[in-house]
This record gives sequence, structure tokens and C-alpha cells, in this order.
Amino acid sequence: MMELCFVLLLGLIWSCGSDTPETYLLKTQSLPTDRNFMPSLSNGHLGYTVFGDAIFMNGVYNGAAGNSKRARIPNWINITAELCDRLSCQINNEATDISYEMDLRGGFFRHSRSFVSMGLTLEQRTYPHRYYNRALVYELLAFRHPTVPLNIEPQYLKLTQQPGNASSDFDFEVLSNGSNAAGDYRLMRGRTKVLELKQFQPYPHEIYVLFSEAMEQPLKLDWPIGQRELQHRVIISIDRQRSVALKELQDALQLSPGTLLKSHIRVWTDFWENQFSIELTGTALELSRIVNAGIFYLASSLPTLSSNQVNEPYFGLSPTGLARGNLEADYEGHNFWDTEIWMLPVITQFGFEYAKQLLGYRYNHLEGARYNAQTMGNKGARFPWESAYTGTEVINPCCPEIAEQEIHISPDISFALQKFFAQSNNYTWLCEQAWFIAAEVAEFLVSRSTCRQAPKICHFLNVMGPDEDHGRVDDNVYTNAVAKIALDFAVWTSGRCDNSSTYLIENWRNLRDNLVILHDEDLDYHPQHFGYKLNETVKQADTILLGYPLQFDTSLTHLNDLHYYSTVTRTNGPAMTWSMFAANYLSTTEDSRAHDFFARGYQSYVHTEFKVWSEVPIGYKGSANFLTGIGGFLQALIFGYGGLNFARVADTSQMQLTLPNVPPQVDQVLVKYIRFAQGKCSWNFQYNSSNVICTSPANQVFELIQGKQRRLLGNNFNVTLHRGDPPMYINVLN
Ligand SMILES: *[C@@H]1O[C@H](CO)[C@@H](O)[C@H](O)[C@H]1NC(C)=O
Ligand SMILES: *[C@@H]1O[C@H](CO)[C@@H](O)[C@H](O)[C@H]1NC(C)=O
Ligand SMILES: *[C@@H]1O[C@H](CO)[C@@H](O)[C@H](O)[C@H]1NC(C)=O
Ligand SMILES: *[C@@H]1O[C@H](CO)[C@@H](O)[C@H](O)[C@H]1NC(C)=O
Ligand SMILES: *[C@@H]1O[C@H](CO)[C@@H](O)[C@H](O)[C@H]1NC(C)=O
Ligand SMILES: *[C@@H]1O[C@H](CO)[C@@H](O)[C@H](O)[C@H]1NC(C)=O
Ligand SMILES: *[C@@H]1O[C@H](CO)[C@@H](O)[C@H](O)[C@H]1NC(C)=O
Ligand SMILES: *[C@@H]1O[C@H](CO)[C@@H](O)[C@H](O)[C@H]1NC(C)=O
Repeated sequence: MMELCFVLLLGLIWSCGSDTPETYLLKTQSLPTDRNFMPSLSNGHLGYTVFGDAIFMNGVYNGAAGNSKRARIPNWINITAELCDRLSCQINNEATDISYEMDLRGGFFRHSRSFVSMGLTLEQRTYPHRYYNRALVYELLAFRHPTVPLNIEPQYLKLTQQPGNASSDFDFEVLSNGSNAAGDYRLMRGRTKVLELKQFQPYPHEIYVLFSEAMEQPLKLDWPIGQRELQHRVIISIDRQRSVALKELQDALQLSPGTLLKSHIRVWTDFWENQFSIELTGTALELSRIVNAGIFYLASSLPTLSSNQVNEPYFGLSPTGLARGNLEADYEGHNFWDTEIWMLPVITQFGFEYAKQLLGYRYNHLEGARYNAQTMGNKGARFPWESAYTGTEVINPCCPEIAEQEIHISPDISFALQKFFAQSNNYTWLCEQAWFIAAEVAEFLVSRSTCRQAPKICHFLNVMGPDEDHGRVDDNVYTNAVAKIALDFAVWTSGRCDNSSTYLIENWRNLRDNLVILHDEDLDYHPQHFGYKLNETVKQADTILLGYPLQFDTSLTHLNDLHYYSTVTRTNGPAMTWSMFAANYLSTTEDSRAHDFFARGYQSYVHTEFKVWSEVPIGYKGSANFLTGIGGFLQALIFGYGGLNFARVADTSQMQLTLPNVPPQVDQVLVKYIRFAQGKCSWNFQYNSSNVICTSPANQVFELIQGKQRRLLGNNFNVTLHRGDPPMYINVLN
């Protein structure tokens, strides 16, 4: 393919001069046949799938209870450009050198076409601005190649908005058609039609949509003879407040297209350089791209940490992200355990602020969780299986039994709180937020349990574990294990944050100590639940989670669980099932099994063009842009291969480094940065060693424990674990 390189009059360089490394560039000549696998572009406030029919906004849902789903805004930024001559626009069929490109480093999508016989190139670019995050941008650049005379047959360009059908979620009203008068833009107001739950949402959502121009009809842009290039851009800004949307549009329009783009790229570059990146050395180019795309798709759904105007509260990370959400396959944009168990452990590595915002979503919706507990006859806070705007249960009407039985979501959240504390060591956050959630989850667990006296033994009856093929079972082992962890965390946190409720704490301790964990003595494994029969197929990773991520049981019994459950797990299960087998096998000596499961966990789930994930293996019907799968995959790489873990040990936050490993074709993995307490650390690992270099403020002191050795590390340290060494434990000294 011919590479076109021109420095253009406006100082923009479109086609070349991009210094994006190839591991961040996803380029293709043909689109995925299923357009659901086009890239998702989001900025935490707005999101859309390239060429899709919807824009979605953080926290904006429509529909009552289980019918609540992300409210679809027509995709007005989906603009098609056509090249036309006096007679027709047929000449578009002559385009060559067609390419579609997702630039992960800069966070934008680009589509380019050339017309060789005429010596012309059309370039289109689109992105949701990462700093001016109420704004979505579309840009067009058309140029004549320098070698081509300028007097060639005149053309015009036709721009057509293709937003898809009218929205059934909003009533839209045009408040202004825009005029030539300064500051008068085309403005629409949309109101959602149905409340989620009146008690928690008194008013419909109201949004304002502003357009940089009134583009109702196809727009005709003349391109006179003698003019080398033609440039045009369209900006749409959307917010709950009219004034915010207006300011955003005005601020963005003040910048030249090049400057506006640069300010967008700067935020993304800063993310990759200063917040988080994983660099694989070796020969695994494809794997590097999948890793980078995974990080990108996860991170783009998160709020920006610096924005032109103050962000609204964040409403969580749904399994298919912010750019999707009005389909059942998109889980309607709801929040599940996927957030805390599958995505959060990776998100925390991007930066503590992101993790706080995700957990903050749960904190902000404690009231909904209390209401949920009450309506279901429990005490404390019972987080809904599916959570949207109000934080009350919005389970799909198909399956109320799942919400009723999958009670592990609440202790999953407590588990995540403890995990975040173990890494951040932030006692202020612990007592201001985590404690309140942990306490009420513990209360819920006590009220949901059934205990028998003499000898005292407690159960959870009529539950469903992660394996949704087995409903209405007793004592699902995963559920009981995560509940024990949640109760233990609540007991401990009370000692740090509030000593006043001693009798409640006694109940939590009792349940923690007496909750049964089923164990088959003969086979030395954990049956998934009471009455589980050998060889019964299970839907996805369930009991094996007792090892990684729970670290509840890592004994020989766990290895037996791995051996056994790997033979009875559905082959068409979700992606992260295999990642979890990989992560767990990596802490054993059975490397080759780990490598096989790791490969299985991504190879058949990632669509090749833009590395967008599917929930189920390619060929089956399932969700697109499945962030949960990415979460499992990156966990397997970071914590499984990397041998890294964070744990609360007594009153101490602890970083744990065990023997690392690397995927085939990878020599070294370099992670920049991971955070530990107030430290910012770069970390690399290879087959034979793992090296962590941290810098922290002077008041932060660490201590290393390794074998019999115990020594102070100070605030900055550089430690290396070699193959054959005992594990390293690094404590924060408070
Ligand atoms: C968006 O634009 C693309 C490219 O022009 C087009 O193929 C697609 O059908 C459009 N999407 C909708 C929803 O119309
Ligand atoms: C758009 O509306 C038409 C006519 O009502 C309908 O046939 C079509 O399925 C709709 N398309 C989508 C993507 O919903
Ligand atoms: C916008 O234009 C349409 C069509 O010309 C017209 O019917 C409508 O009244 C206008 N609305 C406003 C608010 O100017
Ligand atoms: C701990 O969390 C609190 C509350 O979120 C925050 O204000 C504070 O800056 C954090 N402390 C550190 C050392 O990061
Ligand atoms: C709670 O009690 C423990 C043990 O008596 C004590 O160390 C701790 O400071 C107390 N915490 C609070 C917040 O009162
Ligand atoms: C389970 O399957 C294995 C392997 O197919 C077989 O050897 C074993 O007998 C089966 N056990 C039961 C209880 O069906
Ligand atoms: C690991 O170290 C051993 C012993 O020094 C060496 O033989 C082996 O080649 C190393 N492996 C890798 C992958 O570097
Ligand atoms: C860290 O320590 C290793 C060996 O112990 C050394 O090679 C490396 O240069 C050190 N790095 C830094 C940044 O100090």
C-alpha cells in the first residue's frame, strides 16, 4: 500500500508522521462483518461504538426496574463523507487505499480513502474528547496530492449524518435550530420517558445536546478549483446542564482542530506514560496489541481525572462499557459483580482514583442496597445483582431468581474493598467509605444465614454461585468463602473505624467462624455446593476462585479442585473462566497447563481487526466489547504470570512477590506503574526474576520480609526476586 505523506497547510499531519508504535496501532483494510466489533470510544461521560447507532451518557437510563437500560441517544456524530462531482457521488466507488485505523496511543479512530485517478485523499477522524469530555468530535480533511495539478475537475463533499433510528428512550425537543448569530447553536433537549423507580428517581433524566452547526440536511461543502485542501469539523456536546454543554462547545470551538486533537492526545499519552502501560518484550506482537487494546477499552470507559468542567458522579463500569448498553447482550449497561471481581483488580493498577470512583458508586448507592435488603426481608445492605441509576435491583425481568439467589455480589464488594485497602493502605478512605459498606454487608450476611446450635454450624441456603447452571443450592463454596472474607474484613475494620457496635460485631465473628466450607475427604476437593454430583458440568469458574483471586485456599485441595473442575467446565463458557484457570495454575508447578489456559482465554474471544472482545468464543452469540473478559485476561497476566498479590495481613498492607513466569514468546513484561500505599513503582518480570522499584514520599516506610530476613526498605526501594528465592513480602510500616 502506498503511504501518503504530506505536511499540510494547516500544520496538521494526518496520514503520516504519526509516531505511534505499532503495538498501539490497529489498522485494517476491511471491517469486522459484525459491526458490534467496531471499536468503542468513550471518555467516562459519553461513549459510542464507531459506526454504531447510539451515544450513551454516564448514568442516563430509561425504563422501569428491570427494564431500565442505558438510554440511547441517536449517534449524531456518525457522519459519512462522500466525494461528488457535478453529476453524482458515484465516484466514491472508485476509492482505493481504504484503511481504518484505531490509534490506541492517541485515542482516536481514523478512516482514510484515496482516489488515485483524481489524486485525492479523504480522511475522517472521530473521538470523544478526553479533556473536553462533554464533546464528541468528527473531522474531515480532503486534500489533493502535491503532484496533481489543481485545475482538475471540481468536486464538492457531501456530509450526511447517519444517527440510526429515532430514539425510543427520549422525547427530544428542538429548542433552537441554530442561526448565524454568534453563540446560537442548534440545541435539543431530551427527556427520558420512564423512571427507574420513582422513590429513588423523582424526575426523568434531562439532557441537552448542542451541535456546532445545524446539519439537518446533507451538508454540501464546495471544493473550488485551485484549493489544495478542505477541512471541516463537527462537534456535538451533551450534558445534563445546558450551560455546561454550551461552555464545552464554545471552549472546544475556540481551539483549532489541530490544537483540540493535541489536547486530547496529550491526556491519552499521559495515561500511557505516567499512569499505566504494559510492555512485552519478545516476539508476541499480536499479544502486545491485545494487551494494549484491552487496557484502552477498559480505561476509556472510566472518568477522566482532569477535565474542562467538573465531572458528574460516576455510575460504574458495566460489562460492555459506556459505549454500549441498550441491548440485552450489553447487559443493558448495568453493573454486576463483574466490576469488583473481574475489572477492578486491573483498574486499581491504572490509578487509585479510578478504583475509588468505582467503589464510590457502591457507596453512593448504599441507600438502594438498604432498600433492597428491606424489600427482600433482610437487614443491612444487600447490593442488587444488577445496578443502574438508583442502585435498586434492576435484574432483567427474565430471571428474578438470579437476583434472589446470587447473594455473593455483596461480599464480593467487601472483598474488593479489602483488596483496595491492601494496596492503597488508605485509612481515611477505609473509615470514611469502606467501613460503612462492610458493616452493612456483614449485617446482611448475618440476616441471610441459617445457623444451627450445638455444634454451631451456619449455612447459606437457596443460593446460586457464579455457576448459574446450578440454582437453588445450599452452601455454594465460593459464596461461603467470600462471605467469610467479607465478615472478617468487617470485624477488622470496626476495630479501626468504630468500636461502638460490639454486639453486632460478635454476630459477624460468629458467622465468619461457623459458616461451613464443604470438603470431600475421600477425593480431597471442594464440591461446588451441597449435593453437587461428580462430573456435573459447571458453567464457569466458580470453586477454583478459592485460590486466585480469593486466596482462601491454596493448599493441595485447591490443586485437586483445579484438576477436577478443568474437566467439567463448559467449553463455551465465558472468556475469564480460562484466564482464572491460568492464573491459578501459575501458582502451581504445572506451567504448561497455565500457558494453554491463558491462550485459550483470549485467542478465540478477540476479534482480529480492532481487538474487541466477545463474551463467548467467536461463532457463538454473546456480548461485544466484553470488558469482563479483558479484566480476567489482564489479571492472569499481572497477578498470575507476574506472581504479584496485595493482602491485608493483620493491620498491615502487604505486597507479595512470588515466582513469576512469562507467556510463550514473551521474554520480559514491564509494567509502569503499579502503586503501593503512597509509592509509585515500576515493575518488570521475566522467567527468572521479578524486579520492583518504588519511589514514595519521605514519610512512607516499607519493610521487607523474605525467609528469615527482615529489613527496613525506607521510602524508596529497588528489590529483585530471583528464581529459587523464597517469596518477598513488603509491608507498609504505619
Ligand atoms: C454510520 O456510518 C457508517 C459509515 O458511513 C455507516 O456504514 C453506518 O451504517 C452508519 N450507522 C448507522 C447507524 O446508520
Ligand atoms: C429502525 O426502524 C426500522 C423501522 O421501524 C426497523 O425496521 C429497524 O429494525 C430499526 N433498526 C434498528 C437497528 O433498530
Ligand atoms: C426548527 O426548524 C423547523 C423546520 O424548519 C421548524 O418547524 C421549527 O419550528 C424550528 N424550531 C425552532 C425552535 O426554531
Ligand atoms: C486517602 O483517601 C482520601 C479519601 O478518598 C483522600 O482524600 C486522601 O488523599 C487519600 N490519601 C492518600 C495518601 O492518598
Ligand atoms: C478500638 O479499639 C481498639 C482496641 O481496644 C483500639 O486500639 C482502637 O484505637 C479503637 N478504635 C477506635 C476508632 O476507637
Ligand atoms: C466421572 O468421569 C470420569 C472420567 O470420565 C470417570 O472416570 C468417573 O467414573 C466419573 N465419575 C462418576 C461418579 O460418574
Ligand atoms: C533461568 O536461569 C537459569 C539458571 O541460571 C538458566 O539456565 C535459564 O536459561 C534461565 N531461563 C531463562 C528463560 O532466562
Ligand atoms: C535496581 O537494582 C538492580 C540490581 O540490584 C540494578 O541493576 C538496577 O540498576 C537498579 N535500578 C535502579 C533504578 O536503581
